[in-house]
Amino acid sequence: MNPALANFILKKTPASIKNPLAMAETQFTLNTGAKIPAVGLGTWQSDPGQVKAAVKRALSVGYKHIDCAYVYGNENEVGEGLAEAFKSGVKREDIFITTKLWCTYHSRPEENLDESLKMLGLGYVDLYLMHWPVPMNPKGNDPKFPKLPDGSRDLDKSWSHTQTWIEMEKLLKTGKTKAIGVANYSVPFLEELLAAATVTPAANQIENHPYLPQQEIVDFCKSKGIHITAYSPLGSTGSPLFQEEGVQEVAKKHNVAPGTVLLSYHVALGHSVIPKSVTPSRIEENLRIIELDSSDVKSLQSISKTKGITRFVYPAFGVNLGFPDKQ
Ligand SMILES: NC(=O)c1ccc[n+]([C@@H]2O[C@H](COP(=O)([O-])OP(=O)(O)OC[C@H]3O[C@@H](n4cnc5c(N)ncnc54)[C@H](OP(=O)(O)O)[C@@H]3O)[C@@H](O)[C@H]2O)c1
Repeated sequence: MNPALANFILKKTPASIKNPLAMAETQFTLNTGAKIPAVGLGTWQSDPGQVKAAVKRALSVGYKHIDCAYVYGNENEVGEGLAEAFKSGVKREDIFITTKLWCTYHSRPEENLDESLKMLGLGYVDLYLMHWPVPMNPKGNDPKFPKLPDGSRDLDKSWSHTQTWIEMEKLLKTGKTKAIGVANYSVPFLEELLAAATVTPAANQIENHPYLPQQEIVDFCKSKGIHITAYSPLGSTGSPLFQEEGVQEVAKKHNVAPGTVLLSYHVALGHSVIPKSVTPSRIEENLRIIELDSSDVKSLQSISKTKGITRFVYPAFGVNLGFPDKQ
């Protein structure tokens, strides 16, 4: 082939085709100045017996970001996976670890962070998130999900999420976390937090996919310099998103799997994304991110206009978390 023509074709070929993993190396800058890798491995519902291998596999194929939480009950196994990866040459400073403060520990964030660090086998995490803005009774009938005798959630009404944030701010001085942030925050809750805060959250981790774009909170976070991490990007277990016509159309256009479209969508928006998988081939597949153009993003965003869902009240809490009742 004529070298000039070959050069022209090469220039026009998207980076994601030349090197399928190049886009997955994208990082975003937090308001602390630290970088957060665009794609991370989720670990919720990754069963003991599976998550160690999943973490090890992910780090061996190029993931640099693992999303954990105390409440997932598997941080000790995540820690075993991390330890094996370190043994095989992965460096702690090259990876980004997030974990989360559980609701029954709102008045004791350092204690909960210490427990997570111990299980993970780490001296620090890169990002510590308040998992939900919902303090629960620390002395209730269950250490993680206490209930009142009538079956409703046993909330700690003597404590507020803004007090929790002030306690979390103190963690930065301990060196046990490099940054602090929130999860599942709506605009009204974030406004309340910011009014009390000295430190602006580095990130807000929220459910996000074409059925739930959460534009109001996304725009608000953007205006405040708060990074968005999209959770349940594939729609979580058993998701109908893979069959969604609008997703399949974009997948067909780029000749990729629907999952690739669902994950690439967030990276195109400047958000990090944390798909969960314990299946080796999917762990690898989920690292493949392609460049979507603005028309793809627009058409994915339009799906919620007819098929959107709401998360006004999250069932695990039974409280109004301030999200709009219509998307
Ligand atoms: N902050 C919060 O409150 C919060 C809430 C929920 C989730 N999260 C975080 O976000 C992560 C991701 O969310 P999620 O676990 O709810 O759901 P998700 O990542 O949207 O979906 C996970 C499901 O999709 C399957 N899957 C993964 N990759 C696939 C692929 N390429 N093709 C087909 N199926 C695929 C997985 O199965 P296999 O594992 O069997 O492969 C699993 O059943 C969580 O693990 C957690 O770390 C945070």
